[in-house]
Amino acid sequence: MRKKIVAGNWKMNKSAAEARELVAAINAELGDCECPVEVVVCPPFTAIESAGTALAGSRIALGAQNMSERSAGAFTGEVSASMLTSLGVKYVILGHSERRTLYGETDAIVNAKVRAAINAGLNPIVCVGETLQERETGAMDDVVTRQVQQSLAGVTGDELKAGKVVVAYEPVWAIGTGKTASKEQAQEMHALVRRVLAEMTSGIAAAAVRIQYGGSMKPENAAELLAMPDIDGGLIGGAALQADSFVAIIKAGC
Ligand code: 13P
Repeated sequence: MRKKIVAGNWKMNKSAAEARELVAAINAELGDCECPVEVVVCPPFTAIESAGTALAGSRIALGAQNMSERSAGAFTGEVSASMLTSLGVKYVILGHSERRTLYGETDAIVNAKVRAAINAGLNPIVCVGETLQERETGAMDDVVTRQVQQSLAGVTGDELKAGKVVVAYEPVWAIGTGKTASKEQAQEMHALVRRVLAEMTSGIAAAAVRIQYGGSMKPENAAELLAMPDIDGGLIGGAALQADSFVAIIKAGC
């Protein structure tokens, strides 16, 4: 049985002080809710430490939105995996479509980051998903298959069984647009991701992997998406910036 995982990707939002306030508000809104959903917040780098202080002792885990594939050295502006673990970070989003399209991250780069994250003890949340044009031309299965195969190349069945990797299916056309994939469209793509993982490793290993849906997930559509057999959580953008909507999505997964 896979434990659901709902993560907030705050993108380039929230100062250190605002992060502290949002984490406190999420905790207050969660109250004594003990539903078996793992909760993660992924603030920008500059707010990780203050968010980490605010969530200490709570059920919320800390994530980051990106990291370097390299371990240390003359790489101006980059942040390493061990810098993140030193702040208590447990998860790191890798290969988000905004990184792929705006910053030129290829599957090979994402793959190097995945390896560096796992080696450092971080759990990557690896994003895949097709653009609108790729969906309209029927290329989505090929695109997502290639992204999974190449971004996760070399990841072993044992690593998957140990829960070291989360995959997020985020159709690019649904991100920040208010358009959500229907529960059937999302389920189809999640099942595809799981089939590809099974071919790369084994059915048992693939069955252990949690696959999140991302793209305009909100309180109104979360319950029906999270009820689908291969949808194991959500990666939430806009709706994660307010405690009430983020917690409503978490509770929809209970
Ligand atoms: P929205 O929820 O704002 O569509 O963003 C989704 C996303 O990109 C999460 O990583």
